[in-house]
Amino acid sequence: MTDASSDLVAPPPFRRLFANQDIVRRAAELGRDLRAALGEAPPCLVQVIEGARPFARLIQRAFPGQVLHDVRAKSYQGTQSVGEVRVDLLGGLDAAAVAGREVVVLEDIVDTGRTVAALRRELLGLGATRVRVAALLSKPSRRVVEVEVEHVGFEIPDEFVIGFGMDLDERYRDLPDVVVYDADVERGAAASEA
Ligand code: IMP
Repeated sequence: MTDASSDLVAPPPFRRLFANQDIVRRAAELGRDLRAALGEAPPCLVQVIEGARPFARLIQRAFPGQVLHDVRAKSYQGTQSVGEVRVDLLGGLDAAAVAGREVVVLEDIVDTGRTVAALRRELLGLGATRVRVAALLSKPSRRVVEVEVEHVGFEIPDEFVIGFGMDLDERYRDLPDVVVYDADVERGAAASEA
């Protein structure tokens, strides 16, 4: 039998920006805003995986019965945006799912704006009547591309955040809160464990 307690190591004491219950409350407001902004026809919901999954599940509650389509967009290495965005539309997200419909892109965080710009281009190219973006977080001071983000949970300063789906090279996605990544805090925690 394996010892489950080894999985329960406390995360480094990163500075918390948003507690889980505040995120859940804000996402419910965004869900209501989206419903009010959209017409009667059900929208095509598109989540940018992996990071947006927890946020998208909360938004989905406002649209009972609507599936979440997946898209993958890669633009980051470590804490650095590498400029080019590679967009992969995953199973079922094709012209038949999108054409003639309003599409809502659900994103964890909008930073330079390149990902949202690339997704909007791609989805309009597939025939969406309109593409609306809802993001849990936005860092307006980091924009390189002018993009409209119609629904923003919280604006934050230029800090690299992790948790609630957001990662640093696949680490820390499972933290329930949004916290600020700090390499010194991480090193300090590792040293005190050794
Ligand atoms: P953009 O294309 O520069 O707007 O970047 C959007 C993507 O970069 C997001 O979907 C995230 O995957 C990633 N990203 C940007 N800032 C952060 C951050 O502070 N923490 C984690 N991921 C981030």
